[in-house]
Amino acid sequence: MIQAPRGTKDILPAQASQWQFVEGIFREITARFGYREIRTPVFESAEVFSRSIGEATDIVNKEMYVFDDRGGNKLTLRPEQTAALVRAAIQNGLAARGEIERLWYAGPYFRYERPQKGRYRQFHQFGAECLSSPHPESDTEIILLAAAVTKALGIDEFRLNLNSLGNKESRGSYREALVNFLYAAKEKLTEESQQRLVENPLRVLDSKAPQDIEACVGAPAILDYLDTESKEHFDTVCSILSECGIEYVINPNLVRGLDYYSHTVFEFQSTALGSQDAFGGGGRYNDLFQELGGKATPAVGFAMGIERLLLIIESLGKFPAGEKRADISVIVQDIRFSGTGNDIARQLREKGYSVLTDISRRSFKSQFREADKSGAAYSVVVAETELGQGKVLLKNMQSGEQREVLLSEIKELAL
Ligand code: HAM
Repeated sequence: MIQAPRGTKDILPAQASQWQFVEGIFREITARFGYREIRTPVFESAEVFSRSIGEATDIVNKEMYVFDDRGGNKLTLRPEQTAALVRAAIQNGLAARGEIERLWYAGPYFRYERPQKGRYRQFHQFGAECLSSPHPESDTEIILLAAAVTKALGIDEFRLNLNSLGNKESRGSYREALVNFLYAAKEKLTEESQQRLVENPLRVLDSKAPQDIEACVGAPAILDYLDTESKEHFDTVCSILSECGIEYVINPNLVRGLDYYSHTVFEFQSTALGSQDAFGGGGRYNDLFQELGGKATPAVGFAMGIERLLLIIESLGKFPAGEKRADISVIVQDIRFSGTGNDIARQLREKGYSVLTDISRRSFKSQFREADKSGAAYSVVVAETELGQGKVLLKNMQSGEQREVLLSEIKELAL
C-alpha cells in the first residue's frame, strides 16, 4: 500500500469540520480587526527564504525543501509565509507609498523536520501581517489579534512570552557581549551550540539542551543593551498590553528561529502541547523589505500552527458538539418514487436547506435508520397513500411529530 509521505497527514471528513471551525474563527476575528486576505504561491524562488530567514538558521540550513524544476530554476516549497508575503508586496506595490496594509493568510507550509507530536513536514498556519507602521501600536494590534483568536477558540490558558531584540545597533553590541560571555563557557556547550556561537550566537539562548541552559545562566540580557529608541518602543508595547488586560511574561532568552526580526518578538505557549509547546509566534521585521530588494517598510506579524491549535482544543474538549450532515433527509417508500424524491430535494436545496437522498436503494426501514444517523432534523417521507393525494409527510426526527405537506407547497416550506 502506498502511504502518505512521512510527516504529512490526510485530513479526513470527520476532522475537516474541526479545521473549518478553527479557520472560521480566524477569518471572523481578522475581519473584526480590518485585515484582508492575501494568497501567494506554495513555491517560491529559493532565495526568497535564504536571504530573509537567514543562511545560518535551521530552517534554511536543514529544513527547506529545495529543488530544481525542469527549467533549471531553484525553487523552494515555502517554509513560512512572511518572506513570501514581503516578496509579493514588493512585486505588486503593496504598501509602496507607506500605506498601512493589514493582511491575513492561511495555508500549507513545508519543513523537513523530524516528525513528532505537533511537528510535521507539511503543516498549516494562519497568520497576519501589518505593513508600514513603525509604531508600537501596530505591534500590540498584532498581539491583541493573536490573543483574540486564541480566546475565541476556547483556549483561555496560555503563556505569552515577550522580548525585544532592539534595532540593528543595539543587537550588534549585545551580540558582542553575549559572545564574550559564552566563549568563556564554550566547553560546557553542546556541539551544536558551539557551532551556533560562531554562526548565530543569539540562537544559543534558545537551546533546550540542559547543558546549554546551564551555560547560559547569568548571560547578559538583551534588554539591558537596548538603546533609548528601542527601549521606548518596547516599554510602550508592554504598557498597552497591560492596559488591555493581556498577561505576558518578559523572557530575555526568547530569540525565535528566524533572523529577520528586530524589536518586539513574542511566542504563545500552551502546557497542553508537550515538548512542541509553541502554538504561535511572531514579531517585528523592519529590515526585511530592504533585504528582499524593496523600499524600507516597517512591519510586524504573527503566525499560528493550526495542527497545534487543534491538539490544544482537543485536549480541552472544546470542539463544538456533533457534526450535522443535513437539515432534511428525503425517504422514499418505493424505488418508483425516487424521481419525486429527487425533485423534492431539488426544490428544498434551492430554498437553501441541505438535503440527503437515498442513493443506495435501501429498504424503507433502513432509510429511516440512515436519516437518524445523519443528524437531519427533519425527514420528508414519500409514501404511496399520501402521494395519491398529492402530499408527503414531514417528520420531526427529534419529537417524532409529523404533518402532511402538499407537494405544491414544498418550495415554500419553512421549518
Ligand atoms: P514560526 O515560529 O516558525 O514563525 O512558526 C509559527 C508557528 O507555526 C509555530 O508556533 C508552530 O505552531 C507552527 N509550526 C512551525 N513549524 C511547524 C511544524 N514543523 N509542524 C507543525 N507546526 C509548526 C513563522 O513562521 C513566522 N513566519 C511568524 C511570523 C509572522 N513572524 C512575523 N510574521
